[in-house]
Amino acid sequence: MKIKVGVIFGGTTVEHEVSIISAVQAMNHLNKEKYDVYPIYIAKDRTWYYGEMLKDIDMYRDFDTLKRYAKKVILYNKNGAFRLQSLGLFKTVVADLDIILPVVHGNNMEDGTIQGYLEMVGVPYVGSNVLGSSLGQDKVVMKQIFSSLDLPIVPYVWFFDSEYYLDKEAIIKKCNKLGFPVIVKPASLGSSVGITYVKSDKDLEKAIEEAITYDTKVIVEKAVENLVEVNCSVLGNYQNQQASNLEEVMSTAEFLTYQDKYLGGKGKIPTNSSKGMVNTNRIIPARLDEKTTNEVKEKAKEVFKALNLSGVCRIDFLVDGKSKKIYINEPNTIPGSLSFYLWEATNKPYEQLLDEMITLAIKQYKQKHQKTYSFDTNILSNFSGGKGLKGKLK
Ligand SMILES: Nc1ncnc2c1ncn2[C@@H]1O[C@H](COP(=O)(O)OP(=O)(O)O)[C@@H](O)[C@H]1O
Ligand SMILES: [Mg+2]
Repeated sequence: MKIKVGVIFGGTTVEHEVSIISAVQAMNHLNKEKYDVYPIYIAKDRTWYYGEMLKDIDMYRDFDTLKRYAKKVILYNKNGAFRLQSLGLFKTVVADLDIILPVVHGNNMEDGTIQGYLEMVGVPYVGSNVLGSSLGQDKVVMKQIFSSLDLPIVPYVWFFDSEYYLDKEAIIKKCNKLGFPVIVKPASLGSSVGITYVKSDKDLEKAIEEAITYDTKVIVEKAVENLVEVNCSVLGNYQNQQASNLEEVMSTAEFLTYQDKYLGGKGKIPTNSSKGMVNTNRIIPARLDEKTTNEVKEKAKEVFKALNLSGVCRIDFLVDGKSKKIYINEPNTIPGSLSFYLWEATNKPYEQLLDEMITLAIKQYKQKHQKTYSFDTNILSNFSGGKGLKGKLK
């Protein structure tokens, strides 16, 4: 019997479109002999849709057509089955799923939100758990963990929007102390949205106010100079981690913009799903010496373990090309294209990567369910406070 995999993607996030591309690629590479694939698309209005046609990237060009052909669905636990069911007048069972592969990016989805929903349903799912996913999205909290473990990060300050409005001067003073250039970011967005590279204090306020429009928490980091950006994908769980070869990513501005990452500067969404994630200019393997390469790989595995991540995660690094000092930038717990191109460059075809991710998730689900999470004693049955249920149950 084939394993029924529900692929969840889309959602209310600034990376909605990128998620569609990543999910279509993944659906095309799941081994059809082993898996039955069910696309589950969460539209921007939070409605869930299912339909075979959702495997085709062209369906997403026109939402009205998509709505007409796809079924509205819900996923819930029906007596222990993970039921995908259509809504409306005729409620039909689409399938009882075995596992979910979430291919969502960014806030409100990748940050533990979708994982929390899946935990409530009780369905096994691929990738990191709720806590790991949330930590991977908060650029401040993750840094607090990294510094407690002596993992290398850039100097930074952070503050809430309310603190900024209460005492702008004090906040600006704190930021100035870092020394310019700095990078101002919303603490928990993604895809470079709301991020500004600031060369001098005169542009700082504007950059902070831009970041505040996206998040209540803002982080200001010292910019790494002679910047070389390298990424490493890690596959595994808390027991075992494998590191991929490194990619070196090139930007057209001082930092990688949304344009660089997804549009190749031309404003075009790539529709050929077999071509890799995006049009970022990348070199694989990264042009780092062997020592630095190994250091990056080791740190990537340490980050993966420190946050108790699972499945595949791309860990991004900032390297000072002159001093060769490396800094952890951020983990991406559900990376664009699931970073399959890094595994292909490490002799692991995409199909095999997906296979290993699913196998790991099933193993972990079984392990977790061997732990004791509930007691069979019913404390409430012995509770004698108040008047009990007398007169309340008729
Ligand atoms: N401290 C830094 N020094 C230099 N460049 C940085 C720094 N932090 C981020 N950048 C640049 O900004 C880009 C986006 O920042 P990042 O923290 O990765 O945000 P996102 O979550 O949006 O991807 C990075 O890919 C890099 O080009
Ligand atoms: Mg990034």
